[in-house]
Amino acid sequence: MAERTSGNQEEPPTPEGTEDDRAAEAVKLRKNGLEPQVSDELAANMAQGWADTERHDLEPVPQAAHTARRRAALSSRFPGERLVIPAGNLKVRANDTYYRFRPSSDYAYLTGDQTENGVLVLEPRTDGGHEATAYLLPRSDRESGEFWLSDRGELWDGRRNSLTENEQLLGLPCADVRTLPERLKEATGPVRLLRGHDTGVEAALTDKVTAERDEGLRVLLSEMRRVKDDFEIADLRFACEATARGFEDVVKVLDKAEATSERYIEGTFFLRARVEGNDVGYASICASGAHATTIHWVRNDGRVRSGDLLLLDAGVETRNLYTADITRTLPVGGRFTPLQRKIYDAVYEAQTAGIAAVGPGAAYRDFHDAAQRVLAEHLVAWGLLGDLSVDKVLELGLQRRWTMHGTGHMLGIDVHDCAAARTELYVNGTLEPGIVLTVEPGLYFQADDLTVPEEYRGIGVRIEDDILVTEDGNENLSAALPRQADEVEAWMARLLA
Ligand code: GLY
Ligand code: MN
Ligand code: MN
Repeated sequence: MAERTSGNQEEPPTPEGTEDDRAAEAVKLRKNGLEPQVSDELAANMAQGWADTERHDLEPVPQAAHTARRRAALSSRFPGERLVIPAGNLKVRANDTYYRFRPSSDYAYLTGDQTENGVLVLEPRTDGGHEATAYLLPRSDRESGEFWLSDRGELWDGRRNSLTENEQLLGLPCADVRTLPERLKEATGPVRLLRGHDTGVEAALTDKVTAERDEGLRVLLSEMRRVKDDFEIADLRFACEATARGFEDVVKVLDKAEATSERYIEGTFFLRARVEGNDVGYASICASGAHATTIHWVRNDGRVRSGDLLLLDAGVETRNLYTADITRTLPVGGRFTPLQRKIYDAVYEAQTAGIAAVGPGAAYRDFHDAAQRVLAEHLVAWGLLGDLSVDKVLELGLQRRWTMHGTGHMLGIDVHDCAAARTELYVNGTLEPGIVLTVEPGLYFQADDLTVPEEYRGIGVRIEDDILVTEDGNENLSAALPRQADEVEAWMARLLA
């Protein structure tokens, strides 16, 4: 990539101030290491001759009505308090290159906006409720040269929406984020800040916030996101559909993966995620052979061999940032061996029992307990736990040597969604319509596990689906991908034909 002509790291000038201020700012920008490259003539030339591209015909984004309702729900929980929810800043990868930006999930949830440095502020009104404002970086100034001389200039980074364009798109008032630190410093009254995203905003509020109050905001936001609205459910449905297409893409190129490595699978799925969505929702796990027994296998640099199983755990994140989280364990050659199938069928049976336990009014823990019981029954029946009863195994948790992880988690704008929700509303809670969770039991026999027969070693199986709690039960949003072993083989045969 090309380097900017400037090494200037200064903040762009504020658009406020007199003509003289702006002229002085322009000189400062030019002089900041640029004198040899920017003549007055060039600066004057660059300052003019640009069309007005302001748009006045923009419609609110489809999510706008939903974000307004979410903000109202948040407002009602903290009357009289100023709430500050930053999107976060770009993170440096090296020098002047940055990681792709993704806003904080709560900011995106409450605004529908995804631009870096944005900050949502809910200002308490004297007559109750709050006034919401999105503080954003406006378009960069042409006259001062900011648009091409400053570090964040639009000539380099691309056109931004103006504040008035963003007001139309997001359906809420917008203001210049560069004015925010001063406003926050001057503000009086209680403030709650969503920490961990914007050090500049945090610095402006150090004297005004408490860890306890801020934690209360973080927890509430997580809990608000438990029950999904119609927009979120539709988006998660699309995420699952796009992910299913990505899994089909992978099956079609298994020969190329065999000729190269697990990376071919990762790259193939990523292509689908970037074309249909925003990104992958988490690092794809493309685990072939014994790598399938490593729960967080994301190195994806191993061989892919016919006769082995491929555990693929991947999810497309949509352009609205909702992600699927799906796992299929596939026989690379298209057919399970009898032993692979025996283990696969046990996991399938456990997952089926887990999914059946998901429904309104059920305890969150029910699907985990149901799946673990089935897995324990098989482990006992296979003679891996001596003469212990299934109940004793479950009481002591001995199955966990091979089942390893919990059977699922909430899913949404984060793959492990609602992580800050209080225990009584999460693992000790009760399911309600609109909750989306994963059901993902697995069995993993490590390659060096001397307590299992040799032929089991190096086999890992997980099956993971995304389940919506409905009024009368549940809906498997990822049902487009077959789970049952014969159906998996038939599906692969069709794609490989
Ligand atoms: N891939 C992350 C998970 O399944 O929870
Ligand atoms: Mn997963
Ligand atoms: Mn998961």
